[in-house]
Amino acid sequence: MEKELRIAIIGCGMISHRHMTIIDNLKKAGHNLKVVAAAEIDKDRLMAWGAKYGLDEKDLYQDFREMLKRDDIDEVEVCVHNNLHTSVSTAVMAAGFPCYCEKPMAASYADARILYDAQKKYGQKLAVQISSIYNPQTRIAKKMIREGQLGKIYHARSVGHRRQGRPGYDMTRFSPDFLSPTIGVHGPLFDLGIYHLAQMLYVLDMPELESVYGMQSCEYWTDPRIDKAVGRTAPVEDLGVGLARFKGGISMDIYEDWAMHMDTVGTSFIAGSLGALKFLDVDAGGGPMAIPGYNGMLPPGRKQPTLEWFGINEDAQLFHTILDCGISSPSGRQEVLMNPEIEMYNDNQLQWYSYLRGILTDETRIDSPYIAMQTALLSEGIVLSNELGRSVTQEEIKHLAKSIAIRDQETPFGVIHYDFDDYSSR
Ligand SMILES: NC(=O)c1ccc[n+]([C@@H]2O[C@H](COP(=O)([O-])OP(=O)(O)OC[C@H]3O[C@@H](n4cnc5c(N)ncnc54)[C@H](O)[C@@H]3O)[C@@H](O)[C@H]2O)c1
Repeated sequence: MEKELRIAIIGCGMISHRHMTIIDNLKKAGHNLKVVAAAEIDKDRLMAWGAKYGLDEKDLYQDFREMLKRDDIDEVEVCVHNNLHTSVSTAVMAAGFPCYCEKPMAASYADARILYDAQKKYGQKLAVQISSIYNPQTRIAKKMIREGQLGKIYHARSVGHRRQGRPGYDMTRFSPDFLSPTIGVHGPLFDLGIYHLAQMLYVLDMPELESVYGMQSCEYWTDPRIDKAVGRTAPVEDLGVGLARFKGGISMDIYEDWAMHMDTVGTSFIAGSLGALKFLDVDAGGGPMAIPGYNGMLPPGRKQPTLEWFGINEDAQLFHTILDCGISSPSGRQEVLMNPEIEMYNDNQLQWYSYLRGILTDETRIDSPYIAMQTALLSEGIVLSNELGRSVTQEEIKHLAKSIAIRDQETPFGVIHYDFDDYSSR
């Protein structure tokens, strides 16, 4: 029996419940996990959370700094909002704990970099939630590209679109904090966009960004018949578009919205001289383990991520085929039967726990902090380009990026001061 891994959660909002669902499903699959403590500044929410998951009052903390004084916690999962990812995650590592942080890594490249560097500074392990890269869709595409099956890659498209799906507005089960320029900080480019951008970058083997040109807008919000429910003055931007140029002669166009008067805008794809891959139903929902009571089968209507392959065969005839990529599909289940270790690459959290246990190493795990930081570099490039009205180089993005993570947080019990490095000092 593997050793018990003792988990603490910071932030008992919506996404913390997904962490708990995944933990529950992993426990049912035989993994020895126990959630031993949780912290949440909102007392009522904290108590309700503790009651739901059967934690004693003594294991529930309004001030997470008190929780970090314990010596019986193996790792901490950070489920606060974007403005606090760097603040809280660096505090967790500074207190001597490994940290699993929700996406996006941070709301600016500068903060993503500070958090990335904190791993080394504090000698702690870190992972960032990016569910889109933990499944066969991403794995198969990456392998095909590495093996040259698509020839020379020259273009990628990173796409995410909703007809009307603004978290905390049309999607009322989400917190309106997603729309706050000081809490969520950015719109879909940093929200859902990270799943699509990170997947493209990872599949392409992390090409180095040269420059990016981008624009952002929130015109969809400006008609009072559509935009009347939330009493806010300046919502985060909605549409984010960009055109990036990478070393090695690869271009990428980027499109991300939460709402547009349009049914579909296509999918992410990668094009090479010998073939192309289209990415359908990319996972931004946490994978099958995030389905309550997952038993190996998906609920009706739930689609699995798929790849469509367009290519040319040995007789130079064009073909188009759909690759079976689902974790829960016959080929996905067969893959696990043939190679049980692949399960650690099919779920964000299981990969993190396996890395903590030393089953996966820095060499064999997916380096989510690096992927997330490079994703932030690209997203930040679009934000800066929009502000400046011109394209920006990688060097400019790094130079102009500013830390915006919270250093002093007002809470019901006083101010929490966060003491993390300056970006300007590097
Ligand atoms: N909701 C989703 O479906 C979803 C999906 C994937 C990722 N995420 C990411 O998860 C993060 C949180 O999203 P959410 O929907 O759970 O938001 P949420 O507002 O529901 O939850 C955040 C919680 O953090 C608490 N909090 C704030 N400061 C704290 C502190 N110092 N100590 C302890 N608790 C504190 C808040 O009171 C709140 O309850 C965001 O970064 C988001 O991008 C959310």
